[in-house]
Amino acid sequence: MFTAQQRILVTGASSGIGQAIALRCNALGATVLASGRNAERLAEGQRRAADPSRWLCVERDLLEDMEALPEWIRELARRHGKLWGLAHAAGDGLMDSLRTYDLATARQHFDLSFHMPMLLAKGFCDRRCSENGGALLFLTSASAVFAEKGHMIYGAAKAAVAAAAKAISQEVAPRLRVHCLAPGIVDTPLEERAEAYMGASYREEQLRGYPLGFGHPDDVAQMAAFLLSEQARWITGQNFVLAGGRY
Ligand SMILES: NC(=O)c1ccc[n+]([C@@H]2O[C@H](COP(=O)([O-])OP(=O)(O)OC[C@H]3O[C@@H](n4cnc5c(N)ncnc54)[C@H](OP(=O)(O)O)[C@@H]3O)[C@@H](O)[C@H]2O)c1
Repeated sequence: MFTAQQRILVTGASSGIGQAIALRCNALGATVLASGRNAERLAEGQRRAADPSRWLCVERDLLEDMEALPEWIRELARRHGKLWGLAHAAGDGLMDSLRTYDLATARQHFDLSFHMPMLLAKGFCDRRCSENGGALLFLTSASAVFAEKGHMIYGAAKAAVAAAAKAISQEVAPRLRVHCLAPGIVDTPLEERAEAYMGASYREEQLRGYPLGFGHPDDVAQMAAFLLSEQARWITGQNFVLAGGRY
């Protein structure tokens, strides 16, 4: 599906969905720039990769010096060559409500879930950084689409990304494509943290809404790899829900 000259930067590659996307793209022939904060888990990903020589570990806390993110992408492109794709999977959950709403938490979360992906997109979409025909992929969430109690700020930030992605898709076409994947519950460390916070009955209650059960990270990675590839050349600006039949 990919060649070794197709370099894909995957954020969140040290865990969960991001790691599954990085492993899948590597297995399909791409060179992966695997980014995360945890060096040990990035190196573990490299050991598991189909071709470890096409897995480059790039350690960075993306919340540190966020305004420098476009320049960071330029530096990666200078060092390794232009990127074919950016799959942005770094992120975290937030359980919140109108009752607990406070401005500082909302601003912090919008930095993580909205401003960070936009700054990365700005760097990637620069002609000096990305190959013609390439693709940008954001992880949004089913919370941006369905009514979900407890996901007020989280869902709003993800919906903002999906809306921005539509606008960006028009701005960068036909040179680049822009995609969003909106997963429902996928078994990852993020979901484990949510379940620990919500208590014992949460998983069982949620499962009732999923005719096909919860997702595995690779269920998302399969679709991500397709969208990043040339096979999806006629698709842009969409927010695809992957949620095991939940609606
Ligand atoms: N799992 C679900 O049910 C689900 C559902 C819908 C949407 N999503 C979305 O999918 C994406 C991936 O989630 P996941 O479930 O795979 O989560 P995860 O297993 O907790 O992984 C999160 C990743 O984000 C990285 N990360 C977090 N903050 C970072 C920062 N400041 N700088 C750099 N990297 C950072 C982590 O890096 P380190 O581990 O190295 O610190 C880790 O690699 C998120 O955007 C999430 O909102 C997940």
